Amino acid sequence: MRTQVAIIGAGPAGLLLGHLLRAEGIEVTVVERATAEYVLGRIRAGVLETTLTDLLHQLCIDQRLNAEGQLHDGFNLADGERLIRIDVAALTGRNVTVYGQTEVTRDLMDAAEERGLQVFYGAADVALHDIESDAPYVTFTKDGVEHRIDARFIAGCDGFHGPSRQAMPASVARPFEKVYPFGWLGILADVPPCNHELIYANHANGFALASMRSHVRSRYYIQVPLDEKIEDWPDDRLWDELAVRLGPDAAAHITRGPAIEKSIAPLRSFVFEPMRHGSLFLAGDSAHIVPPTGAKGLNLAASDVAYLTNALVAFFRKNDNDAIAGYSDKALNRVWKSERFSWQLTTLMHRFPGQTPFDRRMQLADLDYIASSVAAQTAIAENYVGLPL
Ligand code: APR
Ligand code: PHB
Repeated sequence: MRTQVAIIGAGPAGLLLGHLLRAEGIEVTVVERATAEYVLGRIRAGVLETTLTDLLHQLCIDQRLNAEGQLHDGFNLADGERLIRIDVAALTGRNVTVYGQTEVTRDLMDAAEERGLQVFYGAADVALHDIESDAPYVTFTKDGVEHRIDARFIAGCDGFHGPSRQAMPASVARPFEKVYPFGWLGILADVPPCNHELIYANHANGFALASMRSHVRSRYYIQVPLDEKIEDWPDDRLWDELAVRLGPDAAAHITRGPAIEKSIAPLRSFVFEPMRHGSLFLAGDSAHIVPPTGAKGLNLAASDVAYLTNALVAFFRKNDNDAIAGYSDKALNRVWKSERFSWQLTTLMHRFPGQTPFDRRMQLADLDYIASSVAAQTAIAENYVGLPL
């Protein structure tokens, strides 16, 4: 088979790129290792920047987003005693949309089927070949049959564990990593949220987050040690701890209910440079990971994909090689700023092992400064809504 761009991975990055390129008349084929059901089983964050919602509107993949997405004008930081509201709309003139990333993926999948975007699910042994040439190709097996896709470019949208980043030669690879000494235990429950906006809380016991998917579905998280087991956290213990960490005002409005999903995720900051080598591009989690504090993962994937679409359109329409050559620097410029924001918010809001009383006072002083300074709130708000493309 032959195509112009072979896309590896049908997560949000791969599917969004597929739709955007196809809308520009560029042929794409997507290969995904998992089944569609498996991809949809992954529960991820749920705060969308306009970086992403603008693209979904442009593609007219926005019916459910328009009906079910909640526009939020602000969010809250809590320091154990009070809520510090960051009035994102007043400070930036923009807002964010609360809509589950799983739902974004579902909408992109449904549209792929309707529009004839070709996706091979259940592709095993996906391998990249000749990425330093102008004629790279991808091989895989499906149902015991070997396939080969010849392309002009390969887009590696295969997440942190996929083969694309590994295909970059060691001589050019520059990985940067920070692993945090804790994880997030998340619970999804069909109960109304405790607050109409998100609350990120820094309590002496550790971080907690109150989030939501809708008016009747809530998503909460608490920071836990990395060796903690889900079995250690029966629902009641988790609700009790959330009530403590989120503070008395939020606690008074928590509705408890059985968990429909509960999982522990580690926190990591990771950036891989460069994001292009030869005919291979990386986009999304294959090139970078942020800790979930601030919900930048999917939004960063969206900006990568927007830059990559522009570069590929310039190449196929005008034979413009500069756009291709500039992709990595352009994407990384925004990636590092989102990494900075996610790391900073993580550092501000979590309890670190070995944290001294001085370190704790620094966090509290920082939060008190934010509470009293419009300049500090503006800096947070403009990062939260998303830096310009
Ligand atoms: N072959 C083919 N596909 C693969 C392979 C492989 N060997 N390895 C991984 N994949 C697929 C995964 O199964 C997954 O569906 O690549 C996809 C990558 O999807 P994500 O991990 O969701 O990464 P990405 O699309 O970059 O997501 C960006 O969105 O949902 C959020 O938190 C997520 O921050 C992330 C962001
Ligand atoms: C979520 O709703 O799952 C969520 C929201 C905000 C975050 C992280 C996760 O920063």
